[in-house]
Amino acid sequence: MAVIIPDFVFFRKNENQIMHRNIESIITPSIDLVKEVGQFIKAEAKQFDRSMIEFKGLNDLVSYVDKEAEKQLVKGLKKLLPGSGFITEEGTVQQSEEEYIWIIDPLDGTTNFAHGIPVYSISVALQFRSKLIFGVVYEVNKDECFWSSGDGAYCNSSPIYVSDQPELSGSIIATGFPYHNFENLDGYMNILIDLMQHSHGIRRFGSAAVDLAYVACGRFEAFFEYNLNPWDVAAGAYIVENAGGKVTDFSGGNDFIHGRHIVAANNTHGALLQIIQNNWI
Ligand code: IPD
Ligand code: CA
Ligand code: CA
Repeated sequence: MAVIIPDFVFFRKNENQIMHRNIESIITPSIDLVKEVGQFIKAEAKQFDRSMIEFKGLNDLVSYVDKEAEKQLVKGLKKLLPGSGFITEEGTVQQSEEEYIWIIDPLDGTTNFAHGIPVYSISVALQFRSKLIFGVVYEVNKDECFWSSGDGAYCNSSPIYVSDQPELSGSIIATGFPYHNFENLDGYMNILIDLMQHSHGIRRFGSAAVDLAYVACGRFEAFFEYNLNPWDVAAGAYIVENAGGKVTDFSGGNDFIHGRHIVAANNTHGALLQIIQNNWI
């Protein structure tokens, strides 16, 4: 894979010393690790049945596959970047305040996975002092690895870009339907009513990370959803930004990682945000 990777500066916390490393020393092996864990998920899918589902809350599914995948990711990433912290969905490690934080969704699209629907992914992002510096979304069944380390965005080794469709009327908009928290349901439904009449179509794939990766590579023009967590969006949002897209929260600000709502799009971002804001309570 011919990728130009810039030198990267690592500041070590308790040492007054600056350490230079090539970012490639972390990126390539982390992508390899994510793909390896993807193979574990794919193998388990063959023998998974719905009796293995556990519930964390209303319609909030989890399984041993999510938990085991997360353990493998944490173990491997800790080795790659000693001293880094984690924000993970399944709580394998306690959240801690470190300069480097991995944000991990070990299986994004668990409901699809549990029902044998082949759209699910692994989402891993890396932050340095609260700034995203790397993101990878691996769509397991299509063997498509979307990633960025800041200099462009890629699907496997090919550069990707957001769609050049300028009008919402020609756009496919992805979203996630509310499924456990139904506050603001009326506002959300009004957005859908509006978009149905002013777009080329709406899709609900069931993996926010895949939705974002598809915006990055131009398959979808835009994606919006509320009630999301950092691990659903961190990697995908970074990839969209580095593929030429725009990502905000519903108020047009930057709080889309922890703020629980996100709008990610190509040049239709402004028009979509307007529709969201007209209807959002
Ligand atoms: C879910 C998926 C889904 C989105 C939900 C997420 P999970 O993640 O990304 O597309 O609509 O909001 O929670 O539970 O499958 O990791
Ligand atoms: Ca998720
Ligand atoms: Ca998950």
